Amino acid sequence: MDIASKNVAVITGAAKGIGRAIALKLADDGFDIVINYRNSSGSVEELVGEIESKGRKSIAVQGDVSVFEEAKNIIKQAVDFFGRIDVLVNNAGITRDGLLLRMKEDDFDKVIEVNLKGTFNCIRHVSPIMLKQRKGKIINISSVVGVTGNAGQVNYSAAKAGIIGITKSTARELASRGINANAVAPGFIKTDMTKTLSEKIRENALHSIPLRRFGTVYDVANAVSFLASSNADYITGQVINIDGGMVM
Ligand SMILES: NC(=O)c1ccc[n+]([C@@H]2O[C@H](COP(=O)([O-])OP(=O)(O)OC[C@H]3O[C@@H](n4cnc5c(N)ncnc54)[C@H](OP(=O)(O)O)[C@@H]3O)[C@@H](O)[C@H]2O)c1
Repeated sequence: MDIASKNVAVITGAAKGIGRAIALKLADDGFDIVINYRNSSGSVEELVGEIESKGRKSIAVQGDVSVFEEAKNIIKQAVDFFGRIDVLVNNAGITRDGLLLRMKEDDFDKVIEVNLKGTFNCIRHVSPIMLKQRKGKIINISSVVGVTGNAGQVNYSAAKAGIIGITKSTARELASRGINANAVAPGFIKTDMTKTLSEKIRENALHSIPLRRFGTVYDVANAVSFLASSNADYITGQVINIDGGMVM
């Protein structure tokens, strides 16, 4: 796209799935890439190599986004190495599904800590950098269930709805300083997160998608690429559904 070289993007939870696809797409767009990962160190080295083969620079930074100080370290390492951060993509996320009446306290807390607090932690630490630059784009990965709710996902849908709240409040607070904050809300995307779902759930999901297919990681990465580009400079505080028409 139309960005100058040496723009830097930080993507959390980028070792696999949607995060990995976003990292590769933004590298194609000309960004140098900071890959945050928690456990998947093997695949991360491969990803760094793939990004470098596209002529971009990349570093991998281990860290759990749900821990305030670790999130701070991810952002610090990115700035120490590249000197700036133009785009932050809050992608790291987990599920611990279960019906409300059977959900354990820890399953609720953990999903909120990673998905919601992790998003806050990274925004909190990147904001001073972007404010100093008077430029930045924050893109949060929510979910359609943050908009509609979903049986068996009170923890996850609460976190993803919270991410929409964080996105809009951040957009309002930082707009006057040249910083845009938006969210994307994917529907059913084929990744490790959804591959364990039963055939019955997958079949039901497919019936609720007007475009009659599950989404791919590229469908999400393409929307993030647009929001990260100057083509989206006049867009802030928005949530874009990427769901084949599931929610409209
Ligand atoms: N797949 C879907 O249908 C769908 C739909 C809507 C929204 N989403 C959202 O899209 C995002 C990516 O999901 P995905 O489908 O690509 O899932 P995935 O394949 O399970 O990938 C999730 C990534 O998040 C990382 N992660 C988890 N906890 C972390 C933590 N505390 N700190 C840092 N990284 C952490 C994981 O790293 P490790 O493996 O190293 O732990 C992994 O790389 C998530 O926010 C998810 O909620 C997905």
